[in-house]
Amino acid sequence: MIRLSVSRSGPLSGEIHVPGDKSISHRALLLGAIADGRSKITGFLPCNDCLATLTCVRALGIEVEKHDKTSLVVHGKGRHGLLPPKAALDCMRSGTTMRLLIGILVGQPFDSVLTGDPQLLCRPMARVIEPLVQMRAEIETTDGHAPLTVYGRDLRGITYEMPVASAQVKSAILLAGLYADSPTTVRQPAPTRDHTERMFSAMGAEIVTKEYSVTISSSGISPLSISIPGDFSSAAFPLVAATIVHGSKITLRGVGINPTRIGLLDVLSAMGAHVTAERFRNVGNEPVADLRVQSAHLHGVEIHGDTVVRMIDEFPILAVAAAQAEGTTIVRDAAELRVKETDRIATVAEELTKLGAHIEPCPDGFAVQGPTPLHGAAVSSHGDHRLAMALAVAGLVADGTTQIDDIGCVDDSFPGFIGLMRTIGGQYD
Ligand code: S3P
Repeated sequence: MIRLSVSRSGPLSGEIHVPGDKSISHRALLLGAIADGRSKITGFLPCNDCLATLTCVRALGIEVEKHDKTSLVVHGKGRHGLLPPKAALDCMRSGTTMRLLIGILVGQPFDSVLTGDPQLLCRPMARVIEPLVQMRAEIETTDGHAPLTVYGRDLRGITYEMPVASAQVKSAILLAGLYADSPTTVRQPAPTRDHTERMFSAMGAEIVTKEYSVTISSSGISPLSISIPGDFSSAAFPLVAATIVHGSKITLRGVGINPTRIGLLDVLSAMGAHVTAERFRNVGNEPVADLRVQSAHLHGVEIHGDTVVRMIDEFPILAVAAAQAEGTTIVRDAAELRVKETDRIATVAEELTKLGAHIEPCPDGFAVQGPTPLHGAAVSSHGDHRLAMALAVAGLVADGTTQIDDIGCVDDSFPGFIGLMRTIGGQYD
């Protein structure tokens, strides 16, 4: 198990590019596989989660040429061109791989088995299976979890009200909708990330989106030529680091600023952060900008409702910012955090407390009282990449040395994280 030592750091400075967006990289592979022809992808994120999707797509008979780590050509064979896998499809620790793949596999003329690492086998799958069963899919689970078997069936279109705001569930239903005998509509309780809809539109699918609902009709899709923007969820770590390390000034180039993803920017602005966006452009049908960040004195805020959905992956790092902010930061309506890679309400509170933060968990969120001078301690990532990176940022403002165990999990979403943080002045051994 690899450990990381972090020491208090001086001002961070410099210009960096964060790697490609994870959600978009998964989708480019999966949609490319069922498109009619060759899709070209640049800016692909070669993290463990996306490499799991790549392995699964290949196991379904799709040729994927790798020109280098981030440039791929996917030889799509159309909606009906996948081949039966010879063995169980291993989604490793990637919830997105498993949930989106189920949506494609339910419409195939063959059966498949999906499995993954123990961390993924603990995550709920009933939320994606229930609507697909309404579409006449047949899926056998292990008590609502993977390993699961998907039996290929003829599907019918449905209208589905999602009880939980989840882009993975929405995307699985839309993918299955490509195989259904009539249009499929998904209504969501709050707008979730819309990368699937944007990509489908660019590929000529029959898709109509409104703020809270999406309708797709069975149709073929054309191949894609996409350059994937930097992942805002990865940018969040250096962004918060530069905000809380006194005297810092950094620039993040080419970051995706899709409005369904940047709730953290709104929250940090409300907390008094100094982040400005410039050089707005469109990359791969997604809005992109450069972000300039300067350190700032933060104050506590309340976060609830739709904002939670727009920053669902950013709560571990938000908690670090909140521990340095004046007053109380309260997070509510975020019970979904309990079913992420770890129970992030429990693990974030447990580990930040070890560093001296005052954080109180509650069933659907937490409250942080700040500002607290943090002190170095031995902490655990619990094998959760975003908790590991949040702790690696907290260590930059803690006295003494912070030791983080099992740091290798950062490769699940952000390979090169430590090297990149070192280039702007982070003290890591
Ligand atoms: C993702 C959706 C979110 C997010 C995950 C990636 C996606 O999950 O937390 O990291 O790519 O669709 P939910 O759909 O469970 O909210």
